[in-house]
Amino acid sequence: MVNIKKQKKLIIANWKMNPDSLKEAISIFSGIKKTATKLRNVQTVVCPPYIFINELQKKVSGHRLVLGAQDVSMNNRGAFTGEISAIQLRGAKVGYVIVGHSERRGRGETSGDVATKIQVSLKEKLIPIVCVGESERDEHAEYLTFLRNEIEESLAHLSEKDISKIIIAYEPIWAVGVNANSADSPEDTEEAVLFIRKVLSEMFSKKIALSMNILYGGSINDKNSNFFLERAGVQGLLVGRASLKPKQFSSILNNANLI
Ligand code: PGA
Repeated sequence: MVNIKKQKKLIIANWKMNPDSLKEAISIFSGIKKTATKLRNVQTVVCPPYIFINELQKKVSGHRLVLGAQDVSMNNRGAFTGEISAIQLRGAKVGYVIVGHSERRGRGETSGDVATKIQVSLKEKLIPIVCVGESERDEHAEYLTFLRNEIEESLAHLSEKDISKIIIAYEPIWAVGVNANSADSPEDTEEAVLFIRKVLSEMFSKKIALSMNILYGGSINDKNSNFFLERAGVQGLLVGRASLKPKQFSSILNNANLI
C-alpha cells in the first residue's frame, strides 16, 4: 500500500482583544497546550493580544503549538505610535501573523495596506494568514467580484515563490463574531474556496492554486468544525470565540487530528 503522508490541519486561535488579564491568558493557553502538544496531525497557532506574547512564549515547547500575532504594522521602525513591527514580532519568536482581518478592514484597512503588511511579514519570515471575505452573499453573485478584487489587490504584487508562503483565510464577514447569525454552510464555503483557487490560478498558476492552504473562519465551534474540514475543501480553520474556551477548542483540535 502506498503510504500517503497526511497533511497537517492548521487550526488558528484568534483571541482578539481577550482575555482581560495575563493570568487568564496563561490559564487558557495551558488548557490548549495540554491537547495541542499531543496531536501529530494538527498545527495549532494561538494569536493572543500583543501584550501577552512574551509571557506565553515562555510556555511554548516544541512546534505543535506556536504563537502568532493578530496584526502587524506596515512600517519597520519609527514614529508610529501604538504599532508593532514585523521585526519586533520576529524578535518575539512569533511564527504567523493575521493580516487583513475583517475587524481591521472594517476600520479602514485597505487591500493595498494588506499587500504591504504581507510584504513586511514575509521579509521577516513570518507566515501571513491573509483574510478575505464578503460582507453579504447576494443572489446575483456580486460577492464573487468583491472577493476577486480583494484577492487581486492584496496578492497581485507577490512572486510565485512568495505566494506559496502565505495562507488564505476565507472569512465571510456575516458569519464572523458575536453579531453573526451562523457559520457558512460547508457546501457554500467549498464553492467560495473553489472560486478563490480559480482566481489564484489565473493570477499565478494552476499548480500554485491547487497547493495553497486555505482556511475557513466564522462561527466555528466543536459541533461544526469537522463538517468544514471534511467537506469544504479547506486545510484548516480560523477560530475566534471558541478558541477562548480551552475545552471546546481542544475538542476542535482533537477532532481535526482524526481527519
Ligand atoms: P468567530 O471569529 O469564530 O468568533 O466567528 C472568527 C474570526 O474572527 O476569525
